[in-house]
Amino acid sequence: MRVVMIGPPGAGKGTQAKLLEERFGVPHISTGDILRGAERAGTALGLEVQRYLRDGGLVPDALMIDVVEKRLAAPEGCGFVLDGFPRTVTQAEALDAFLARRGERLDGVVWIRLPREELVRRLSGRRVCAACGAMFHVTFDPPARPGVCDRCGGALVQREDDREETVRHRLDVYERETGPVIDHYRARGLVRETDGTGSREEVFDRIAAGVR
Ligand code: AP5
Repeated sequence: MRVVMIGPPGAGKGTQAKLLEERFGVPHISTGDILRGAERAGTALGLEVQRYLRDGGLVPDALMIDVVEKRLAAPEGCGFVLDGFPRTVTQAEALDAFLARRGERLDGVVWIRLPREELVRRLSGRRVCAACGAMFHVTFDPPARPGVCDRCGGALVQREDDREETVRHRLDVYERETGPVIDHYRARGLVRETDGTGSREEVFDRIAAGVR
């Protein structure tokens, strides 16, 4: 299975990609997680991308394409659920070319849609574990003890780019840069438009019915 998840910030791409990984055994590749991990580790990549992460702007295409091609070239051989890439038409064309060189193609693009006020509600309540990266929501998926990770006991924090001002900027960037990516894939008959409202399980059932 080779699937791309597309949708605005907070639509549930990461949540649903993880569920697809669990159900179908296909690796979930999140470019946001890769970049935040590099930043935490203080690598050269992390230093280079930290201002884009903080401001909610896009990391330059050439850098992102290099990161993703290296990750996809890893010999896991059972496909992928790509979350957060491609985000521009240039990235989409690079992915098309990369797959074509390998004699592969995408099976589908899951486009998750959600009203703007619900996106803001989901992002403002999101908390992540500073130690292991596990994700929670203060209302929709609260930890057993407030502020403490159920998985490892680490401290739960708000992502820096989930502040209100930055969220607004990320939504604008999504509409401007990633909207045309949906058109790119729609012209190839790959887009599966999915209603992102409802519980995690309800959304997952919609997605899973389309990717089987
Ligand atoms: P990235 O990490 O990809 O962020 P994003 O696309 O803005 O998406 P999010 O992670 O915010 O949201 P999501 O859709 O995954 O929702 P989630 O499942 O977490 O990118 C971050 C930054 O990295 C970018 O701004 C950019 O700087 C850089 N970057 C990354 N890729 C790049 C690229 N290709 N090119 C250039 N730059 C790049 O859910 C959100 C919350 O809602 C959670 O709390 C969750 O628990 C809750 N929730 C989920 N589903 C439900 C539900 N059904 N009901 C109730 N709550 C729910």
